[in-house]
Amino acid sequence: MQTIGVLTSGGDSPGMNAAVRAVVRTGIYKGLKVIGIRQGYHGLINGLMDEMNLSSVADIIHRGGTMLQTARSEEFRTEEGRRKANYALKIFGVDGLVVIGGDGSFAGAKKLSELGIKTIGIPGTIDNDLRYTDYTIGFDTAVNTVVDAIGKIRDTSTSHGRANVIEVMGRHCGDIALYAGLAGGAESIIVPEVPFEIDRVCKKLIKGRNRGKLHSIILLAEGVGGGMDIAKEIEEKTGIETRVTILGHIQRGGTPTAFDRNIASKMGARAVELLVAGKSCRAVGVKGLDVIDVDFDEVFNTENKFDKKSYDLANILSI
Ligand code: F6P
Repeated sequence: MQTIGVLTSGGDSPGMNAAVRAVVRTGIYKGLKVIGIRQGYHGLINGLMDEMNLSSVADIIHRGGTMLQTARSEEFRTEEGRRKANYALKIFGVDGLVVIGGDGSFAGAKKLSELGIKTIGIPGTIDNDLRYTDYTIGFDTAVNTVVDAIGKIRDTSTSHGRANVIEVMGRHCGDIALYAGLAGGAESIIVPEVPFEIDRVCKKLIKGRNRGKLHSIILLAEGVGGGMDIAKEIEEKTGIETRVTILGHIQRGGTPTAFDRNIASKMGARAVELLVAGKSCRAVGVKGLDVIDVDFDEVFNTENKFDKKSYDLANILSI
């Protein structure tokens, strides 16, 4: 292994820069040439690549977004697109590729490895929807962003005696809603993994009002449905004025937490070590305090393990 490439793909997440930095600096430390590929698989197909040096990744560990930029490439989903990508890698002499992204990006990396290039995945997504790893890069920052928003919305919720539905990201995964809801003391948490009854949410709301509670925060994962409809139903059923906040892409930006920077640094270094050891088709992750790596097939086959215990706890603590 002499030359490795690194790219970020799919939705960006805070901490991706720390991972890029770790890949570049560990690679150089191990005597490798490191190529930065801009705009994910789109950039790979179009040869948007530059050699990186130690200074290329200076002053980025604390920055949100990704200095390499990212994209969701339709062309890469085609055989022709992947053939072009493989050709570009050959031209630049890249023997190993580190892909930082979510499950779709890993699926692309696996396909690329079938053409002969060694690939390693690092989980970068705010959704935390990859079950082989406890955490994905960016999740902790996104949760903290939501917790911060809950505090602010609660202030105005209390002043007006309103209920507030806060819709958060996560695609089909309820982890952002669950962990931000638990940390932020939300009255109700609605996630795709647990069937919910609007009547129970309303009952809880009214019970809270009856004992003098002035605010009510309902945290809704986007995978369940739109916040507007749920807020309308709550208002109609309870008579309590209900507002909606869709936090949207604010959850994808901002300076990464120390936790995200640390796991990104550790996983970036492990990815390079794996390539140097001649490994391919592996995804890096964290389990407890340990950095782990598993076969890509394990990533795709691991069943969804929703943290029902924490969900139940959040319900108990918000009675
Ligand atoms: O996967 C990350 C994510 O932010 C999801 O939570 C969200 O559903 C989606 O990306 C939004 O994608 P886009 O930025 O392309 O609108």
